[in-house]
Amino acid sequence: MSAPACLVTGSSGLVGSEVCAYLSARGAVVHGIDNNQRAIFFGPPGDTAWNRERLQQTLPHYCHHGVDIRNRSQLTELVRTIQPALIVHAAAQPSHDRAASIPFDDFETNALGTLNLLEAARAYSPESPFAFMSTNKVYGDMPNSIAMRELATRWDYADEAFEEGISETLSVDQSTHSLFGASKLAADVLVQEYGRYFGMPTCCLRAGCITGPNHSGVELHGFLSYLVKCNVEEREYRVFGYKGKQVRDNIHARDVAAFIHAFWQQPRVGEVYNIGGGKANSCSVLEAFEIVQAITGRAQKWVYDEAPRRGDHICYFTDLRKAKSHYREWSISTSLRDTVREIVSTWNERRCVR
Ligand SMILES: NC(=O)c1ccc[n+]([C@@H]2O[C@H](COP(=O)([O-])OP(=O)(O)OC[C@H]3O[C@@H](n4cnc5c(N)ncnc54)[C@H](O)[C@@H]3O)[C@@H](O)[C@H]2O)c1
Repeated sequence: MSAPACLVTGSSGLVGSEVCAYLSARGAVVHGIDNNQRAIFFGPPGDTAWNRERLQQTLPHYCHHGVDIRNRSQLTELVRTIQPALIVHAAAQPSHDRAASIPFDDFETNALGTLNLLEAARAYSPESPFAFMSTNKVYGDMPNSIAMRELATRWDYADEAFEEGISETLSVDQSTHSLFGASKLAADVLVQEYGRYFGMPTCCLRAGCITGPNHSGVELHGFLSYLVKCNVEEREYRVFGYKGKQVRDNIHARDVAAFIHAFWQQPRVGEVYNIGGGKANSCSVLEAFEIVQAITGRAQKWVYDEAPRRGDHICYFTDLRKAKSHYREWSISTSLRDTVREIVSTWNERRCVR
């Protein structure tokens, strides 16, 4: 039997590249789509060409396509030719801050690009599982309406209904999303609809902070990757509001890839999962400084800006109970500290190469 072909968009990015490696290690032929748009969104520090080259050099049978997902005819032709057994959609304009200055690029990439891919899938591989990387920004700033308590180094939920974190039942409506959150929500609802209306095996993975050593972290996207980069390069990190006590849960991109693989093996129709590191892998910005400093031995330089980012979450960690109950063999494999260790070591290596 020939190896199954999988299609991964955003293959040179953090999540896409990790998914490519994960699937390749399990015998799949992987087709990646990425036109290095991240370098256009964020300038040279966002360039992902190094990661594309890494995949081409290290993965057997990896096939790269520099197609823009906004180009409907090229994308459709590719899906028609490959007829993938699995589609993983991780290409995006991923920054909520950046979206405000490029609203058309943001919407056309995030919403229209997703529709292009869904339609191509409906035409040529409707039975194949389709996993979409959504975001916790679909909930807008609704998490900020939960009662909070201030602890020494972080905010926490004061309402015990959220003891386990944010579940999929939180409203996506009537809150501030940022234009990025709005374009991703449009895509998220489309992906659900291709499941509910057309019966396709689709799922949306609503993630908070995904991280890992293969991120081209920049100030506007890639929290831990950028924070570690600042520490390693002895640059100043800018904290935006909430006293630096704002909390994010962090999940290694490999654990996201493992979840997608589990979904491929046992697909469901039109599902939505919150996916993240959970409370155990959460930290505030101040706590992240502590963790990185303990690993590198270098003091973190930082400055404080009173104004929080618009729509930014004060405290967000993921309730993983639905994801874990549907996929019992899946769990978080990498602790926050181990993930930071990996990121530190890769930024050090990248510095030596330069
Ligand atoms: N990293 C996170 O913390 C995080 C959190 C929540 C959700 N997500 C979602 O996960 C997905 C992947 O995020 P990531 O961190 O890997 O981002 P990334 O920027 O590292 O990767 C995205 C890749 O998509 C490519 N791309 C962008 N526009 C394209 C286009 N028009 N055509 C072809 N390729 C294009 C970029 O060049 C980039 O390599 C995104 O949908 C993002 O919204 C990420």
